[in-house]
Amino acid sequence: MSRLSGQTPGWPQDPASDHPAAKSDPALLRLHDFTVSLPGPVPIVRGLELSVGRGEALGIVGESGCGKSVTWLAALRLLGRNVTTGGEVLLEGRDIGRLSERDLARVRGGRIALIFQDPSSALNPVQRIGTQLTDVLCQHRGLGGEAARREALRLLDRVGIADGPRRLRQYPHEFSGGMNQRVMIALALAGEPDVLVADEPTTALDATIQAQVLDLIRDIRRETGMALILISHDIGVVGDLCDRIAVMYAGRIVETAATRDLLTRPRHPYTQGLLAALPTLDGPRRRLTPIPGTVPAPAAIPPGCAFAPRCPIAISRCERELPELTLAAQDQRAACLRLGEPVAFPGAPVPAALASEPAGVPA
Ligand SMILES: Nc1ncnc2c1ncn2[C@@H]1O[C@H](COP(=O)(O)OP(=O)(O)OP(=O)(O)O)[C@@H](O)[C@H]1O
Ligand code: SF4
Ligand SMILES: [Mg+2]
Repeated sequence: MSRLSGQTPGWPQDPASDHPAAKSDPALLRLHDFTVSLPGPVPIVRGLELSVGRGEALGIVGESGCGKSVTWLAALRLLGRNVTTGGEVLLEGRDIGRLSERDLARVRGGRIALIFQDPSSALNPVQRIGTQLTDVLCQHRGLGGEAARREALRLLDRVGIADGPRRLRQYPHEFSGGMNQRVMIALALAGEPDVLVADEPTTALDATIQAQVLDLIRDIRRETGMALILISHDIGVVGDLCDRIAVMYAGRIVETAATRDLLTRPRHPYTQGLLAALPTLDGPRRRLTPIPGTVPAPAAIPPGCAFAPRCPIAISRCERELPELTLAAQDQRAACLRLGEPVAFPGAPVPAALASEPAGVPA
């Protein structure tokens, strides 16, 4: 079902958009040196490098306020005019930041779909579910009349909503939170996107419904080959669904690795801290170690390593030098000046093997 190749609707006819990178970039969606700024001295998001491949699931984790949502809202130009961005947002190597509003609107929902934590903020409260679905089907797939209605019914059925003909006539307030989240997923699927950006899609749901919605996303990915960017503060949820995880802190990526490597051999003290604070169902009982303090507000981000005020293994260098993302192991990068030393966040396993490895190789 997913449109994994072929003509991109909405690309401008500008020959410059046929940049050589468009053919050579293996990533489906890539943020390159991406920066988000509000009026004020400090950018909220700084120098971000992130990519997701076709059919890949990338998880983005980090505490509240670290910039997970702002990154993707800004990348898709969904924030107000007082927000400026720098760098590139490359879809198949082409910078969507250069698209007109009209062309970008076709990419949003068509190639890249979004679902949010709170469906009530994304669904139109005064429009029937059927109208909202058929509008998207008309805009992104050119369907109308009976064809659009049939496809809307199929989508409702696909996301597990029974009694479709009646449901299409209803309004969002007539649905439970979990059902509205399913409607959001149906709306996202309506444009047959290549990539779904799901921002905390289950945080507002109770545990049983959360598991059902996550299973639904997993099944749909299996059927369609759709790539997924799953944003969550819950590293457990992300670990369950994603091939790769990027950890964000204070507007930067501090670690990225294949899920298994990140969960079993985290290299950045912040990732180690997140995992040390996570309860496990199996294994010996252990005391959980919370990370002291909170994420700094953008204007209060210290020079040097932004994690330094909370990092139990910080040294004086950390207050002055900004650590760059550095290769820590195969396909694993971390931004820490003490990478390669046998030290770790309390409660996390000390990476002893690193003692004999060279300190980080520049990325
Ligand atoms: N529209 C906005 N105007 C001003 N500041 C904003 C705006 N949106 C977010 N911020 C600020 O940008 C920073 C990052 O916010 P963001 O919402 O991206 O965090 P998050 O990682 O998604 O957190 P959460 O897990 O709570 O959703 C925060 O300091 C926040 O206060
Ligand atoms: S650079 Fe220093 S403060 Fe930052 S995470 Fe590494 S050890 Fe901690
Ligand atoms: Mg958020």
